[in-house]
Amino acid sequence: MAIAQRGPIGVFDSGYGGLTVLKELANRLPQYDYTYLGDNARAPYGNRSFDTVYRYTLQCVEWLFGLGCPLVILACNTASAKALRTIQQNDLPRIAPDNRVLGVIRPTTEMVGNYTHTGNVGILATRGTVLSESYPIEIAKFFPELRVYQQACPLWVPLIENNEHDKPGADYFVKEYMDLLNQQSRDIDTVLLACTHYPLLKDKIARYLPPGSRLISQGEIVATSLADYLHRHPEMETRCSRNGQILFYTTDSTEDFNNHASTFYGKELQSTHLPLN
Ligand code: DGL
Repeated sequence: MAIAQRGPIGVFDSGYGGLTVLKELANRLPQYDYTYLGDNARAPYGNRSFDTVYRYTLQCVEWLFGLGCPLVILACNTASAKALRTIQQNDLPRIAPDNRVLGVIRPTTEMVGNYTHTGNVGILATRGTVLSESYPIEIAKFFPELRVYQQACPLWVPLIENNEHDKPGADYFVKEYMDLLNQQSRDIDTVLLACTHYPLLKDKIARYLPPGSRLISQGEIVATSLADYLHRHPEMETRCSRNGQILFYTTDSTEDFNNHASTFYGKELQSTHLPLN
């Protein structure tokens, strides 16, 4: 029997946000190799149609498979909400039946009920993620008694991608969406940052939450879930290469990516350009 070639774990996002997840994966599971792809040339995905997000995501997943990744994490809620299921059910059996694609929504929804005391959970996400209803549907499977309040924050990703999140102008838009969330219920005590970009706004968002509330980022949760997945799937774990190497690709300018990425990743990095066809 031929021994399957080992390869890096692929990590995909529309742009920079997935770097907040990759950072936690590399902290928690530093022994593996990772290949990150940011589709910066076509970001943001948040307001795009289902069909467009699906096509872009599938193209990027196929590219990561082509690079030898046996496992790809969609470190993007919008892609997880709009493309993951179709890719898992329709495309994988055809293009790479032995490979796997995982998202960030399921691991988070499995955990969120453990944080709340009031049973009222807020979801902050892109418009696409909110409209998909993925969070209320998935949370109901694990914690049917929870009340879930969603708020789309369409201007936050552009602010973050344009490096405006630390500036006073961002406060206006943080307040605007947090007011809308808080108007939905006064009893929300747990708020999930259901967009991998939003941890960069965490401090500003926290100002609009009652004392004692929990504000949850996904990175650590996804890292714990990946560790568990690899433990439960030795057939996949043995296909993941282990040299502790991380490579970065972007579909847009490498200069921009290198300059901006450290804000999300916490250290400097060098990327390679991936030309889109
Ligand atoms: N980082 C993506 C997410 O988690 C969204 C960014 C975008 O709109 O492209 O939803």
